[in-house]
Amino acid sequence: MRYWKYMKIIFLVLLSAIIVTLTVQKVPYDQFKYLMNNSLVEHLLHEEPCACGKHCLAASDDNWFSERFRDHVHPLLSLNNSVLSDNIFNWWKTLQSTKSKANYSQVIQKLFSVIPGEDRYRDVGPSRCRTCAVVGNSGNLVGSFYGPLIDNHDFVMRMNKAPVEGYEKDVGNKTTHRFFYPESAIHLDNNTHLVVLPFKLLDIQWITSALSDGSVKRTRFKVIDKLQTNKDMVMIMHPAFIYYVRTTWLHLRRSYPSTGFLVLMFALHICDEVSVFGFGANTKGAWHHYFEEMPKKFRRTGKHPGGLEHQIILELQKRNLIDLYAGW
Ligand SMILES: *[C@@H]1O[C@H](CO)[C@@H](O)[C@H](O)[C@H]1NC(C)=O
Ligand SMILES: *[C@@H]1O[C@H](CO)[C@@H](O)[C@H](O)[C@H]1NC(C)=O
Ligand SMILES: *[C@@H]1O[C@H](CO)[C@@H](O)[C@H](O)[C@H]1NC(C)=O
Ligand SMILES: *[C@@H]1O[C@H](CO)[C@@H](O)[C@H](O)[C@H]1NC(C)=O
Repeated sequence: MRYWKYMKIIFLVLLSAIIVTLTVQKVPYDQFKYLMNNSLVEHLLHEEPCACGKHCLAASDDNWFSERFRDHVHPLLSLNNSVLSDNIFNWWKTLQSTKSKANYSQVIQKLFSVIPGEDRYRDVGPSRCRTCAVVGNSGNLVGSFYGPLIDNHDFVMRMNKAPVEGYEKDVGNKTTHRFFYPESAIHLDNNTHLVVLPFKLLDIQWITSALSDGSVKRTRFKVIDKLQTNKDMVMIMHPAFIYYVRTTWLHLRRSYPSTGFLVLMFALHICDEVSVFGFGANTKGAWHHYFEEMPKKFRRTGKHPGGLEHQIILELQKRNLIDLYAGW
């Protein structure tokens, strides 16, 4: 209480001193105002878009980035935003190999009777600094000793069946989010968020069923029918988000982005700082998974546009928008 009184007095004395000095020096009022506006006041009142020291992703003023980044395209499906525009719905239907007769709005309604329908991660603001590690599955992680560095992020995002056990020193031991589709699903512990990538309506029917009656046993082939995971932590990537990544970032007409690229884009949208591990080839030029033997003959990327996706990742790095750890 007492301190406040003293602080106030000191502040008033200082202010008077400044005014007296300025008057004696005959600094014109305009200049005085200018001084106050541009340094002191600005410094005291200006709010940073996020609380990270370095930079805040969504607020980046990089031109190349802002031509592509669409702040308003939310990466997750919620009760509030599940309606799809016709062109997105029609594109999404072309990905499905089976002619599904299911009614989209009924499928969604059923989904959100099993998992929460709330809107998450819309908390960007001056008090948030969320750091995220996106961990791909590349063999360039082998021998990297990135484990502790990866675990040091708020969110650690992994994909598909990538194991942690036995690889901790290179890939870390923490997983806050795991991304997969039905055909690449694994059981999770109950502290991990699951983000399902729906490439077809059946994928949404699968997760609904896998968390309830287990009636969906096949998609493109036999899949896990009863999934162990914490229902309250399950989320679905928005089909409109996949569409946006495909069109705005990759300019694709056919096909869809790779899982790794979708996870990276997800991170760019919900995090303030993003570090990227385990993407691309290893230093020998081999593309393989860190949990598999390096092949004798090196594999090239197939269906996914690995080339363009990789170029974009390098560009993001060059523009200081992500920290890319190239591995070994
Ligand atoms: C889907 O179901 C809703 C009611 O749940 C109904 O209003 C709508 O017409 C149905 N759509 C189609 C294409 O059958
Ligand atoms: C849906 O949006 C409204 C207003 O935008 C909000 O009040 C409501 O909480 C939201 N519901 C969910 C489930 O997120
Ligand atoms: C994860 O690794 C850290 C060291 O990097 C260790 O302190 C921690 O106990 C490990 N946690 C688990 C659950 O193994
Ligand atoms: C989480 O899982 C463990 C074992 O897998 C179980 O013992 C525990 O009760 C679960 N906790 C909750 C909140 O479901």
